[in-house]
Amino acid sequence: MQEKILVLDFGGQYSLLIARRIRQQHVFAEVRSSCDMTVAQIQREGYKGIVFTGGPSSVYDSVSPRFDPEILRLAIPILGICYGHQLLAWMAGAEVCPAENGSEYGRVTLRHTESALFRHVPPESACWMSHTDAVRSVPAGFTVTASTESCPCAAMADEKRKRYGVQFHPEVTHTEYGIQMLRNFLFSVCDCAGDWTMEDFASTSIETLRWELSGKRVLCALSGGVDSAVAAVLLHRAIGDDLTCVFVDHGLLRKGEREQVEQVFGCRFRMRMVVVDARERFLARLKGVTDPEGKRKIIGEEFIRVFEEEAKKLGKQDVLVQGTIYPDVVESGWGSAAVIKSHHNVGGLPGRIGFSGIVEPLRMLFKDEVRAVGLGLGIPEELVMRQPFPGPGLAVRVMGEITEKKLRVLREADAILCEEVAKAGPFNVPSQYFAVLTDTRSVGVMGDERTYGWVVALRAVDTDDFMTADWARLPYELLEKVSSRITNEVRSVSRVVYDITSKPPGTVEWE
Ligand code: XMP
Repeated sequence: MQEKILVLDFGGQYSLLIARRIRQQHVFAEVRSSCDMTVAQIQREGYKGIVFTGGPSSVYDSVSPRFDPEILRLAIPILGICYGHQLLAWMAGAEVCPAENGSEYGRVTLRHTESALFRHVPPESACWMSHTDAVRSVPAGFTVTASTESCPCAAMADEKRKRYGVQFHPEVTHTEYGIQMLRNFLFSVCDCAGDWTMEDFASTSIETLRWELSGKRVLCALSGGVDSAVAAVLLHRAIGDDLTCVFVDHGLLRKGEREQVEQVFGCRFRMRMVVVDARERFLARLKGVTDPEGKRKIIGEEFIRVFEEEAKKLGKQDVLVQGTIYPDVVESGWGSAAVIKSHHNVGGLPGRIGFSGIVEPLRMLFKDEVRAVGLGLGIPEELVMRQPFPGPGLAVRVMGEITEKKLRVLREADAILCEEVAKAGPFNVPSQYFAVLTDTRSVGVMGDERTYGWVVALRAVDTDDFMTADWARLPYELLEKVSSRITNEVRSVSRVVYDITSKPPGTVEWE
């Protein structure tokens, strides 16, 4: 059985990060809600250790999340973090109350005594705190193993029963020796081997999928994005021609995107693939529409219609593949099989077409892990490492009404930006960068002629999570080159501007 750690979530903002940090040590970790994990399930899954996460509640609120007290009877090591630490103390009979010295937030100095959790950690180090309550007395069998100036019980341990609690957050980078502490828990306390790799993931998944889907007909909607691409290739390795991929060209793709998908999946991987040319029908439905949400809605609906028609033409298909990844699962509420990524091009499909099952081969992986699997499967780097592209495509980058002519202008301008970013010397490539065709025209001069052409805006942002973003400081030489090429090479563009709005107050996309 694959060794794994259970991250029992109490609603903490860092629960996923804890799992991520553990997986970075080559130990598989899965996040499960504290509400739906029973002792029987935990035993069945054979976890090597359990981490209780933080959370926004107070243990003494009657509605605060708890764990099944039977968990404490199991011979599985436990590490409680923040709320998890308080809950561990509380449920083992100790006292938790509002911190005497008030809330403690941010970087503080931690001093520790001997403990398996603090091996190779200097006696004093920086840690990150964020709490209002504190453990006042430790439960029977525990000793206090660390403190800070205002938190007398910053860590506690019952070494004999392998129970540990820390008030601070070892998973965040501000806790200097946080990774070391997690490693101590994984390798010294839980005795993990640390042999989990992405190659293991791919080969085990392929075997499982082959076994589970044998004799079934499986359909996959390829979007050209990373997740559906990796899911499709995994499935193809497992079941070959029993998989059919459908790629809908809605006419809102970037330059060369359809050809790239055909080349990679059709020619290189030799998948059974249907490319649907639906450009005209999407444009027809978008005629005269200028409202951004109206565009999104039409594209979503039309996509489902086209996909349904193609599925019917292919005859009965049993299973639909979804490129759902781990953050989608966790963010959409806890992991029933019915969780579907609310991406415009697959949401709503399964029920309507009547598949008997959905398969989500990447539902346990983070984005960078999906990328690692993709590279391991031989998907070209340009595709695996590509920047995100919105489902409604260029429709939300052409301001106002969408026409074929405007799309052509935008595609050319965008391709020039992408080419120049790729060619530019070593610099931090922004998280996302693209051109926008504004709905404004402006006067210019070319040769001795007056021109009156479109204004193209360039957008480039740096971000970790796309929830907030800063405008990217692209080198001036790069901006100059892109502006000069666009105005010279793309007919009917007279001016190029650079968007220096952060998110918030702006959004990444213009619509
Ligand atoms: P915003 O514009 O909301 O963008 O700041 C954040 C990220 O989401 C992408 N985005 C979308 N993706 N369907 C998608 O699949 C959409 O309707 C959509 N709108 C924005 C955007 O490209 C950025 O990465």
